[in-house]
Amino acid sequence: MRAKGDAGLVWDETALDTYLAKPQEMVPGTRMSFRGMEDAADRADLIAYLKQAAALDPASDPSAAAAPRAEIGAAVLAIEGDPAYGEYLASECVTCHQPSGRADGIPSIVGWPKDAFVRALFEYKTNVRSHQVMRMVTSNLGNEEVAALAAYFGQLSPQ
Ligand code: HEC
Repeated sequence: MRAKGDAGLVWDETALDTYLAKPQEMVPGTRMSFRGMEDAADRADLIAYLKQAAALDPASDPSAAAAPRAEIGAAVLAIEGDPAYGEYLASECVTCHQPSGRADGIPSIVGWPKDAFVRALFEYKTNVRSHQVMRMVTSNLGNEEVAALAAYFGQLSPQ
């Protein structure tokens, strides 16, 4: 996704239509585990709906001030996690996330770069990403534990 953005991709309607038709084809390696929406009329309806919803969303008003966001500290990102401790902690996670990297509705979390993993958990914890289950799961994790989980899942590769 980032590489596409760096290469100048703009998410206009045409781009979104191409993406929704075959996400994996347009953005190889995307973590969005969605096969795609074959029917062009369905995609057009969906895009029309998203446009209408965006127009009603106060967050899409550029004159609205950006909400303050908690920032993750460099010191937290610098922690080297212990993968063995991470494996021990992961027993809670693998009831939902497959260690094989298979994603059936629940996203794959294996083989991620450490920073992205740590950031994702931080964002659930601080409710930047709002998801009740992940918020509960992360609320008791300290920085060392998050780093250990990042180290453990990061060294696994999708089967
Ligand atoms: C009860 C099921 C469940 C458990 C247990 C669980 N997760 Fe999750 N996790 C989810 C779901 C569902 C999502 C997608 C949430 C969303 O839409 O933002 C998610 C999202 C994530 C993401 C972000 C994925 C992405 O593609 O952005 C990470 C990273 C993650 N979980 C790590 C963990 C870790 C580490 C643990 C264990 C400490 C854990 N999860 C435990 C269900 C679970």
